[in-house]
Amino acid sequence: ARAVMIDCDPGIDDMMALLTICASPELDLRGVTTVGGNVGIELTTRNARSVLALAGRGDVPVAAGAARSLVRVPVTEKKGAHGDDGLGGITLPEAPGAPDPRPAAEFLAATVAASAEPVTLFAVGPLTDVALFYAMYPQVAARLERLVVMGGSIGEGNMTPAAEFNVWFDPEAAHRVLTDPGVPVPTTLVPLDVTRRTGLGDADLAALAGSGRIGGLTARALGGYRHGLGAVTPVHDAVAVLALLHPELMTTRPARIQVDAGDGPSRGNTVIDLHPGTGPTVDVVVDADHRAVVDALLDRVTSLDRRV
Ligand code: BDR
Ligand code: CA
Repeated sequence: ARAVMIDCDPGIDDMMALLTICASPELDLRGVTTVGGNVGIELTTRNARSVLALAGRGDVPVAAGAARSLVRVPVTEKKGAHGDDGLGGITLPEAPGAPDPRPAAEFLAATVAASAEPVTLFAVGPLTDVALFYAMYPQVAARLERLVVMGGSIGEGNMTPAAEFNVWFDPEAAHRVLTDPGVPVPTTLVPLDVTRRTGLGDADLAALAGSGRIGGLTARALGGYRHGLGAVTPVHDAVAVLALLHPELMTTRPARIQVDAGDGPSRGNTVIDLHPGTGPTVDVVVDADHRAVVDALLDRVTSLDRRV
């Protein structure tokens, strides 16, 4: 199985991403790190540990990371899309034990350095922890097999017209992670353009709800998470996990990325140049077989209720 780690801010769709990893025998989950984003760091850490326990993977270590973005504290008047608790109010039991005492960047570095196999890292929250990892341990970070990021957008954003949430929350961190020539990690970006079109319809939610306890809780959490986007419920972060598991269901193109970390109205914008010429590029997912991706996600997550 492929060694993976995930940095996340659960987060309803982060929950779906964690469950997808736990349900995938091809992936060997070495650890989880958390970052402040959808809700504060105490809650994202608590939620990550609770979701792992729900999936029967309470043995996976969780290390808490950055409570704040690197340079500026983002200000929003929008009410959190993930509810006050980050999981749409489903209140999972608190996992026993305690998080790993190390900060996320240190835990990431230690785990990647200790692994005999190259590690693939998913980053599905603001990129603060990953930026700190890259800044503090560039040589260890360069050993990553791949970084798979959910974030950014070719077209419209979801926090502002210009910016997707994860990049908007910490553009300076995104700038480092997506453009740092000193840490040449092969990187896949799964942007909002694709994830917002790869959501669950009502029949999918019903199938999830009917699959058992884990599926039922997940469907309830997802129930409130529509972002006013019409008939589908997005599961952004889980689509990024699927991009590693089923690349054949995605269309990917190399692109050069710039992040607007200025103070103007397009702060947090990702400028994605699909005609990059020379220089380092990121593999950007530009399209997906939406139905097949959703079917694959449902198949995996519902399998947890059959196994646990
Ligand atoms: C991203 O923002 C967060 O709210 C979600 O968890 C996802 O990672 C989508 O823009
Ligand atoms: Ca997230």
